[in-house]
Amino acid sequence: MERPTNKKNFLTVGEVDIVRRSFLNLGNENAHAGEVFYRQLFALQPELRGLFVGDMDNQSEKMTNMLGMIVSQIHNMPELLPMLSDLAKRHLVYGVRVEHYQHVGHALLSMMKEIMGHQFNTEVAEAWTKAYDGIAITMIYNSFGQEGAAQYRSSA
Ligand code: HEM
Repeated sequence: MERPTNKKNFLTVGEVDIVRRSFLNLGNENAHAGEVFYRQLFALQPELRGLFVGDMDNQSEKMTNMLGMIVSQIHNMPELLPMLSDLAKRHLVYGVRVEHYQHVGHALLSMMKEIMGHQFNTEVAEAWTKAYDGIAITMIYNSFGQEGAAQYRSSA
């Protein structure tokens, strides 16, 4: 299995804690979080709407469940790798390109900000940016290779 980095933990213990707590804080808001996330994404990049062919309530649930699963294992990337690699390869089939990962990252942060309000401070923003970049680079590396990862890094 290919890895963009050999580091087991790309987040500090404190950052893992912040990411976990803030995600858990969305709590019962999970369905709402998915809805807000896709509203933000399509407002930011309307052309991405065309990639989604299925029911969006269902998709929102799948996305937030998957995110929750990733967040619960974010302290241990080797454990997550096979799952992220498979997810990334399925995303190739959905027509997802490297530059789309940037837009999804922005929508994710906007969603957190909208739901968390004043609790979404610089620390939370930085921890989530780092977490998402790590996830995105891992997925991109496993679907677009080294060049794709470099493209993402240069625009991040
Ligand atoms: C952290 C990154 C991401 C996560 C965790 C994630 C998660 C998911 C999940 C769980 C699904 C359900 C289907 C499956 O498991 O294969 C899915 C489908 C999909 N995702 Fe993602 N995704 C991510 C990034 C992206 C990006 C960057 C795009 C680009 C716009 C995207 C577009 C799509 C599309 C088009 C589908 C299929 C929807 C359909 O069938 O209607 N995803 N994603």
